[in-house]
Amino acid sequence: MSQPHHDDHLDRIRLPALRERITTAAAAAEWIKDGMTVGMSGFTKSGDAKMVPLAMAERARHTPFQITLITGASLGNDVDKLLTEAGVLARRMPFQADPVLRAAINRGEVMYVDQHLSETVEMLRTRQLAPIDIAIIEAIAITETGAIIPSTSVGNSASFAILADKVIVEINLSQSLALEGLHDIFIPKHRPQREPMPLMTPSDRVGTTTINIAPEKIVAIVITEKQDSSSTILPPDAETDAIAAHLVEFFEEEVRCGRLTNSLLPLQAGIGTIANAVMTGFINSPFAHLSMYSEVLQDSTFDLFDAGKLDFASGSSITLSSQKGAQVFRELTRYKERLVLRPQEVSNHPEIIRRLGIIAINTALEADIYGNVNSTHVLGTHIMNGIGGSGDFARNAYLAVFATKSLAKDGKISSIVPMVSHVDHNEHDVDILVTEVGLADLRGLAPRERAQAIIRNCVAQPYRGLLQEYVTEAGERGGHTPHVLEKAFSWHTRYRETGSMLPIRSVNIHPTDDLDDVSQQAA
Ligand code: COA
Repeated sequence: MSQPHHDDHLDRIRLPALRERITTAAAAAEWIKDGMTVGMSGFTKSGDAKMVPLAMAERARHTPFQITLITGASLGNDVDKLLTEAGVLARRMPFQADPVLRAAINRGEVMYVDQHLSETVEMLRTRQLAPIDIAIIEAIAITETGAIIPSTSVGNSASFAILADKVIVEINLSQSLALEGLHDIFIPKHRPQREPMPLMTPSDRVGTTTINIAPEKIVAIVITEKQDSSSTILPPDAETDAIAAHLVEFFEEEVRCGRLTNSLLPLQAGIGTIANAVMTGFINSPFAHLSMYSEVLQDSTFDLFDAGKLDFASGSSITLSSQKGAQVFRELTRYKERLVLRPQEVSNHPEIIRRLGIIAINTALEADIYGNVNSTHVLGTHIMNGIGGSGDFARNAYLAVFATKSLAKDGKISSIVPMVSHVDHNEHDVDILVTEVGLADLRGLAPRERAQAIIRNCVAQPYRGLLQEYVTEAGERGGHTPHVLEKAFSWHTRYRETGSMLPIRSVNIHPTDDLDDVSQQAA
């Protein structure tokens, strides 16, 4: 365990009575018993508890035990990996992005509940899920009244701490104290008496800056200096530049037609390389005074601030590459007035997303000719990460955009297929599909028209011709949404059998039996 070499940590526990709760990670981990449900901070590798889970993994090596682990979203610092390897995870929700955990889920060893990120705490609050026994929350400090000041994410941390009987706090000295004041913690009341959330613009503050709990609930405090893991997104490339350019052109046309103004509407961008690259594309756009009402704030958010394009960003976490992170956290005070971090049930709240008119840009693994989108399952069966917030946003957005490169795995996989092998976002929720080839505007189109728009605009050869053949044959059979059902998954089965979705005459044969290979590479 990394121990601080100075007394900063005492200043960060401003309620002196709580200082006697400082203990080691191993001692704190003893509070977690076999069969418990643990709610842990952490959202897309940010603000995650880092010491106690590692001590849990260590303990499980000699004294096996299992828990249900609920977080905000994915964790960093190999926490999911180490807990999986130690056999600690019986159940995991609502999101993960770790290759080792992913493989264990795909082997059926860990029961993974892949949820819309706005829903988890609603289900906990109403006891539709087993209650949280203990919460483990990373904080930059504890206030004079015993309230918790979270670090680089809020996620589900506030409700975990409120709903749990016992709370363990990890005070992280590597997290900047300048984060204080950045958070806006709003906890909705029980339904059906709940009032509307009074949030009228992305920059509104409607809650408190701290997680307010009774200090007696804090049973242990662990001090750490372990840093957040950096994001591993790749820089934009020619294809992501092309995707961004198509989108910018589309939005320019929307402005010309008077449907949007030059500041568009609040933007949400999904996780990963493509969504980040698409947002970076707005730097060289004609739009100005943009705002974000999103979930994860990636490098592109700060690039847009620096380019003078973005006025304000609301999210639930800040997840940056190591280079960007070093710069942003060094200069946090420069950005702070233009940032807010909220609980994920607020950042992803369906009513707010609908009312603010969010433009939601998320990523597909594959889409089909009618615009159904698979964001989660490689070749229909093997989980990649999870739906995350993409469903919260896509269903309720002013405009739901899905982006993907038209090809994966060196062209052996077409991201546009006859029928998606798993549905996360159905055709009714997908307005725009964009690849490096072009953009299909699906608004107001019937299924047969959607198929033509997608094949014409989004698909590269030779898959374009193959899809045209498929849709022609399907059309001859008739139907509102025509299919040749016995061929609908033939591209996926062909990939499995030959190593390519292309017909056998066009490819070298590389049989692909192990789908984990594909989802592992795709981590
Ligand atoms: N079949 C198999 N693998 C595919 C594929 C397909 N149809 N399409 C893409 N992939 C692979 C890519 O080859 C890549 O693998 P590699 O790293 O080995 O090259 C990997 O998937 C990631 O694809 P990439 O094109 O780099 O996209 P990304 O980093 O932008 O991530 C998702 C894309 C879909 C995995 C990611 O956005 C995700 O998990 N989304 C679901 C959650 C979500 O949308 N949250 C948003 C709200 S915050």
